Amino acid sequence: MVFESYTEMCNKAADIVAEQITLKSHSVLGLPTGLTPVKMYEILIEKNKNGEIDFSDVKTFNLDEYYPVSPIDKHSYRYFMNETFFKKINIKMENTCILNGQAEDAEKECDMYQKLIEKSGGIDLLILGIGRNGHIGFNEPDEYLLSYTHKTRLLQETIEVNSKLFDDVSEVPEYALTMGIGTIMQAKRIILLASGKSKYKALRELMAGKITTLNPSTLLNVHPCVTVLCDRDAYEGGKEK
Ligand code: F6R
Repeated sequence: MVFESYTEMCNKAADIVAEQITLKSHSVLGLPTGLTPVKMYEILIEKNKNGEIDFSDVKTFNLDEYYPVSPIDKHSYRYFMNETFFKKINIKMENTCILNGQAEDAEKECDMYQKLIEKSGGIDLLILGIGRNGHIGFNEPDEYLLSYTHKTRLLQETIEVNSKLFDDVSEVPEYALTMGIGTIMQAKRIILLASGKSKYKALRELMAGKITTLNPSTLLNVHPCVTVLCDRDAYEGGKEK
């Protein structure tokens, strides 16, 4: 679905989340960080304040986290989610799950996270952003992709794009923990959000319907229930956001 503006796209995304929670109060949501979902989170906070959505029984799993990073580091995705969203809604903090960026044993942490998602009954609705290179979560373009939650090395291009939120590019962690492609594919419903001209190429490839690990988002073409929400800039390659 193409929207004239970023805000309209985020309104639609928030409506879909609201419908999901209204239909199933104990919904399990998969959530992204990044710039794209920020407005959607703001709208959801409003909907929670005016009584339209109740998050008290909702459980969330974030897609990824830098590694290593402390959860109280302001660059961590845990910090981002707490400050941008969780502290502003009536969700129980213990129901918000994010990979531990300072786990000593990354493999064990990923394994535990994967099992926790499965134990929670799987993700009902997963919201995804998309990288300029087509990454989803931190599943970067590569010859092979991994299915389960795992530790991954970020590509230099991702480190550079993400460095905008750091003082210096050298401060961006080289690694991350991320849900794998299989973890993502097991979500019952997926919404992918794409905003701005920089996402045009990756989005075009996704919508072309051909599958390649060199654009991990294209694997979503085999998922039975994916909705792509984008603004006109991402759809037509218009002006930069
Ligand atoms: C973040 C994530 C990433 C972002 C992607 C787009 O949790 O999983 O895949 O969704 O890098 O980031 P923005 O929205 O900042 O363009």
